[in-house]
Amino acid sequence: MSTVIDELELLPPAQNERELLDLERKYCSWGDTVHYLDPPKIFERAEGHYLYDREGTPYLDLQMWYSAASFGYGNQRLNTAMKDQLERLPQLACQYLHTEKIELSAAIGRLNESKFGLHGRVHFNVGGAQAIEDSLKIVRNATGKNLVFAFMGGYHGRTLGASAITSSYRYRRRFGHFADRAHFVPFPYCFRCPYGKKKETCELYCIDQFAKNFETEYNSFWDPKTGEAEFAAFYAEPIQATGGYVIPPREYFPALKKVLEERNILLVDDEIQMGFYRAGRFWAIENFNVEPDIIVFGKALTNGLNPLSGLWAREELISPELFPPGSTHSTFSSNPLGTAVGLEAVRMMEEDNYEAITQHKGSYFLAQIKELQRKYPKVIGDTDGIGMALRIEICQADGFEPDRELTDRIFAEGMKGDLDARGRRTGLVLDIGGYYKNVFTLAPCFDMTEAEIDIAVELFEQLIHRCAPERT
Ligand SMILES: Cc1ncc(COP(=O)(O)O)c(C=O)c1O
Repeated sequence: MSTVIDELELLPPAQNERELLDLERKYCSWGDTVHYLDPPKIFERAEGHYLYDREGTPYLDLQMWYSAASFGYGNQRLNTAMKDQLERLPQLACQYLHTEKIELSAAIGRLNESKFGLHGRVHFNVGGAQAIEDSLKIVRNATGKNLVFAFMGGYHGRTLGASAITSSYRYRRRFGHFADRAHFVPFPYCFRCPYGKKKETCELYCIDQFAKNFETEYNSFWDPKTGEAEFAAFYAEPIQATGGYVIPPREYFPALKKVLEERNILLVDDEIQMGFYRAGRFWAIENFNVEPDIIVFGKALTNGLNPLSGLWAREELISPELFPPGSTHSTFSSNPLGTAVGLEAVRMMEEDNYEAITQHKGSYFLAQIKELQRKYPKVIGDTDGIGMALRIEICQADGFEPDRELTDRIFAEGMKGDLDARGRRTGLVLDIGGYYKNVFTLAPCFDMTEAEIDIAVELFEQLIHRCAPERT
């Protein structure tokens, strides 16, 4: 029989980073993304747009938890909302109501009424992929169909349902047959046009190709006798996130929406990474003047303090008659800590002019990285940005062939924490995305000043000099 002392000996506190990493290697599953970096990195503290390691070295974060912490680590206003809720109503079974859930739903509902002129309802869950699952239920329930379109390069999460509509086969390969795998359509990634066209002259050739699917029943999508498509919805990220912050031409989504409306196919807008002003508008889709049928959101709604996620759907798709009580549920779905901080975040977004803030700072940042591209054409093949979602595509010396190896080296070098931020030893936190894993997807904190953006760009330039001296 074990004694209390024996049991405590099972859990001696780890003394140093080495011991912690040894324990991690042995006891943590490696199935997440931690081991993309070798050795993995341990952080101790976070404040503003800096992470601090166990030695207290600051790392300037240009990715802000994949855009979940857009409003800064330790944001006082949002932290206080969380603490107040912790004191008052920290837990409540989702079967019962609380004020913040209702007010947050109403805030998002009213906002969308004013933006799109459409009445709709909000349904919460935890985690982006789970909200995607709920949206799939709504689509299936309302249309009676299972099949959907999604984009090549698209990412919607890694539950089984979300993996089925995420383009990467790598995420599905070891998990059996995905009967409802989406039909993947090329995204307008104009720097590497999937059709080999030029943006200036293509006249949206990609839309013509998509529209052709419905020209005759023999193209396999459309029954002209009943006027019905076999596909229920099109899942789209307005700006591809994991795909490398790829921004489509402004005319693309209106043209796509026209085809979808003609064929009675719903547009599901995945705003999980680009929503809440990351792309300069409350919803990224607002940049393109189209009305989605369903919007799925998560991440920055709570500034990363709680995994609250959710969806908004048009009344016709989610009315109580169509989607009755019990249609979907999760124990933690509308947890009060999440709704309280989400409500405060939405209030904050309404009060401060985040549209102007993100558009202004984003253009300043973009101008700086365009300058880097001009200085280092043998390293950077493409740069682009919308709001504070920016991309730097790392290429071979010809400025086009993807250079994944150099991208990895730059990323790892930034994590060493020994760059020089005007005399201060600093690291740089970057994230890699893109079809060829050669794109730095920058999602900086909205609070960064122009002077801090200058420092970030200087750090990135140091990385170029360290990792590709022969190409500078
Ligand atoms: C556009 C998009 N959709 C869905 C997801 C999945 O969200 P989660 O990781 O919270 O499940 C992500 C996550 O990065 C995303 O960027």
